[in-house]
Amino acid sequence: TRRHFSGSSSRMQAVNNMTVFGGGLMGAGIAQVASQHGIKVTLCDLTDQALATSKTMMQKSLSRIANKKHPDSKDEQQAYISSVFDNVTLTTDPALAVKDADLVIEAIVENIKVKKELFRMLDEECSAKTIFASNTSSLSISEIASATSQARRAKFGGVHFFNPVPQMKLVEVIRTEETSDETFQSLLDVCKRMQKHAVSCKDTPGFIVNRLLVPYMFESVRMLERGDATAEDIDAAMKLGAGYPMGPFELIDFVGLDTAQHILDGWRQKVESGQADSLSSDLVAPSALLSQKVKEGKLGRKSGEGFYKYN
Ligand code: NAI
Repeated sequence: TRRHFSGSSSRMQAVNNMTVFGGGLMGAGIAQVASQHGIKVTLCDLTDQALATSKTMMQKSLSRIANKKHPDSKDEQQAYISSVFDNVTLTTDPALAVKDADLVIEAIVENIKVKKELFRMLDEECSAKTIFASNTSSLSISEIASATSQARRAKFGGVHFFNPVPQMKLVEVIRTEETSDETFQSLLDVCKRMQKHAVSCKDTPGFIVNRLLVPYMFESVRMLERGDATAEDIDAAMKLGAGYPMGPFELIDFVGLDTAQHILDGWRQKVESGQADSLSSDLVAPSALLSQKVKEGKLGRKSGEGFYKYN
């Protein structure tokens, strides 16, 4: 339609080829959903074994989706899955991975040094038009972008997907002070094509969801530590009284106690170094109960025990 050519979209750069770095839980999900919606995706991880695991994850998720799409025909299910995989290339070679990339999404380990190292290298490998985005949950996008050249920083933003990517509708699109309008529009457009609901947020600790959810989880832990109420009663209260689908302790067990502690520690460092006006020192104070559980390896669902026990 004509509308397609109007307004800011005329300056927007369309993403036909996407490269995802890191084929873990998040990267495999992002690659899968993009390829489901007709985007050519190259997925890059460190080893063939990691890539084989990514492929298995995608295969499992796609089987469920194909089953729903074509409940009566195994052939059509198989055809759907193959058509999605036709859009996916797997490689361990970073230079090859970004050869045609319009957009690179990074979903590797949550470590600022490792992320900066990757982007420094990619800045040299990629064409000047390639857009860069990080899926980080807790690191600053502009700090990661500082590893790249001045010119690239206008083409750098954040796309924060949620786990599990194929099911969760939300993406937080993050713009730094340097992200250009054109880049921001391209990122919004990719999310739309992936049939996600994009919300935008400045480059602030926790963005929207975690900035509100993490303090809520820690307030709950402190309430338990003070002995004001039991974990079971706090969970029941928030589910039945506030309409939340999960109580805060069920949520921490799902997220992982180590991950929750990692976010809290990161925020405390920001507060201590004066880098986070929106966070208070009370909010980021360590929790003895949480630290104790993490030390004991009680990390939540993934380890079989956190605030609750799982089979
Ligand atoms: P994961 O540990 O499942 O996967 C990370 C993958 O990156 C691994 O397969 C690893 O081999 C690979 N990798 C490490 N260095 C690499 C490199 N230099 N090049 C290519 N691949 C490399 O981690 P997960 O959970 O998928 O998280 C990835 C990112 O997404 C992190 O930044 C995390 O904070 C963020 N995130 C995680 C969410 C979650 O619920 N797990 C939710 C939203 C964001």
